[in-house]
Amino acid sequence: MMKTSGNRQGVKVPKVPENVLERVRSLRESINYHNHRYHVLDDPEIPDVDFDALFRELAELEQKYPEIIVGESPTQRVGAAPVAGFAQVRHEQPMLSLDNAFDEAAVLDFNRRILERLDREEPIKFAVEPKLDGTAISILYENGILVRAATRGDGSTGEDVTHNVRTIGSVPLRLSGSDYPELLEVRGEIFMPRAGFDALNAGARATNEKIFMNPRNAAAGSLRQLDPRVTARRPLDMFAYGIGIVRGGQMPGCHSDSLARLGEFGLKICPESCSVVGEEACLDYYRQIGEKRDRLPYDIDGVVYKVDDFDLQSRLGFVARAPRWAIAHKFPAQEQATTVTDIEWQVGRTGAITPVARLEPVLVGGVTVSNATLHNFDELSRKDVRPGDAVVVRRAGDVIPEIVRVKIRKNHRRKAAVKLPAVCPVCGSEIIRAEGEVVARCSGGFVCSAQRKESIRHFASRRALDIEGLGGKLIEQLVDMDLVRSPEDLFDLTHEQLADLPRMGEKSAQNLLDSIERSKETTLDRFLYALGIREVGEATSLALAEWLGGLEQIQNASEEELQSIEDIGPIVAAHIHHFFCQTHNVQMVASLIDKGIYWPQPKIRNSRGSAFSGMNVVLTGTLQSMTRTEAKKCIQQEGGKVTGGVTGKTSLVVFGMNAGSKLQKARSLDVPVVDETSFLAMLSDKKT
Ligand code: IVH
Repeated sequence: MMKTSGNRQGVKVPKVPENVLERVRSLRESINYHNHRYHVLDDPEIPDVDFDALFRELAELEQKYPEIIVGESPTQRVGAAPVAGFAQVRHEQPMLSLDNAFDEAAVLDFNRRILERLDREEPIKFAVEPKLDGTAISILYENGILVRAATRGDGSTGEDVTHNVRTIGSVPLRLSGSDYPELLEVRGEIFMPRAGFDALNAGARATNEKIFMNPRNAAAGSLRQLDPRVTARRPLDMFAYGIGIVRGGQMPGCHSDSLARLGEFGLKICPESCSVVGEEACLDYYRQIGEKRDRLPYDIDGVVYKVDDFDLQSRLGFVARAPRWAIAHKFPAQEQATTVTDIEWQVGRTGAITPVARLEPVLVGGVTVSNATLHNFDELSRKDVRPGDAVVVRRAGDVIPEIVRVKIRKNHRRKAAVKLPAVCPVCGSEIIRAEGEVVARCSGGFVCSAQRKESIRHFASRRALDIEGLGGKLIEQLVDMDLVRSPEDLFDLTHEQLADLPRMGEKSAQNLLDSIERSKETTLDRFLYALGIREVGEATSLALAEWLGGLEQIQNASEEELQSIEDIGPIVAAHIHHFFCQTHNVQMVASLIDKGIYWPQPKIRNSRGSAFSGMNVVLTGTLQSMTRTEAKKCIQQEGGKVTGGVTGKTSLVVFGMNAGSKLQKARSLDVPVVDETSFLAMLSDKKT
């Protein structure tokens, strides 16, 4: 007889079978493992669909047997209902702030004070880290389980934001390993990576919602949501940078080792953190991170130097609300005040009309800024920027400088608000804003010289056909003199025409002709990208080239076929299809090929035929010896095609660890399957 247990109503329900408990345990372990690989290590092993399948299976089991649900189960990241308000949390150990150093002299002073206080001459070992531009968090783990997360607040009392912090994928709900202290308070910074911030604001712009001023505000605002489902949709991340309370166990005796230990527990540590010895090494680190700053995927506003040894830290102690053992060495600000001199309209490659603010030049983060984008007319209206206004501009990473807000001045008579022009400022064609679209466009198409110039600039750009020496100024001249109307005309330019141009000369003319000639040998994906099809960037071009293989296949692909390619959705598919339905585009492509543009076919490695020649191969599960991308490359090099889903057309399924539904489907369709060992054998057979 099946074992039963009573529930509250006294109705007998079946006890959870042992095999279900075992499966649930294994699913949770697997999901936590893949979650950590994805969010913390940024190195996923399995595709999202496979992860989703594991997650779904667990959720279904938990729904069937609700008594097995525990708070730290990966299904429980987004709690049920919004909270009514934030409870106050008293920090047992206050959350301090840092003193700032704005120049090198202040850093040398900091080091000198430390040496004096410790009465020592030997250089100090410092843990050095970027100063992350987000919001501070304290997370409490009890027996390895996340039980509470609180903001810094005033340092003594913060707000309970546990429900929101639980939704952040890189924050473990349960620590890995087993040697963690019974009670461990992890401190760190919650931040929004720049790409996520840009996407969030782009989405908000499209739907006319609130725009965030910068990633820091976006992170802080997202954390202070009453509804955790809202926070769960925000691209938040966290780096741990310290510890607070430790009870019932030990942590290492210095900061850098403690961070490494936190990493072992599954927390994410900023990869730029390290340790150095002495003040000069600190300054070197500052310069090194400063040089990298724009390329980092998140905002930082300086670096932090911390005396590494905990004993030395306690000997140094605190002054007021900041420790004597740490200091923040700040970078120049990324936001500055200036004045708008004018607002002009720029016409892009696809006719999009963008308002651009001309500014009194101002130094922002070490770079002179004299223009800032306002994105589109709605954004201009929302921010209500007018010529003559005092504004705050922001430049972060390699993004185009933006206007953050207008600074309203007392007794300043503002000029009238700028209106969307009715006709294109360049060609005079009507400006049209399609129903539901944010972007207004010049309807001139090829008539508009601004659109022509931008198309040619894009065609010749480094990541497209890479025509060295063909810069913006030269393109302007060529289009204005009507020597070039569209990209294909570039290949008809003569030495005479070029040498006659102002500031050109014989030698530069020849150099340009040589680089135009060189650009004819390209790759299919670069060529596709160069065509400037709407929404088709480099990644999409590469996907098209890899999955469809040839220009003809791409030109003739239906929208459905295009959509079956990974990462191509209905909108992009429609743009591609529409592009190749236009006779003038097809003619332009043919003419470019006619003028000698070509791409060598990818070489097949050996002459004895190829292991996967003509095969449609599906990869599933985790391979031990290589990543999925590497496996895909090997298959392609051997003449095969890698596709996403198993269908009757699939020739072979290669499966690794934890393979799921695709393997089952292959078996049910009688599609041949091979494991990793056989797959490697197939590859190496061909290499001998
Ligand atoms: S350590 C006692 N490390 O800066 C030292 N703080 O002004 C406490 N911050 O509110 C902080 N990156 O949110 C530390 N690598 C880092 C940091 C960092 C950013 C923030 C933190 C704190 C503020 C201190």
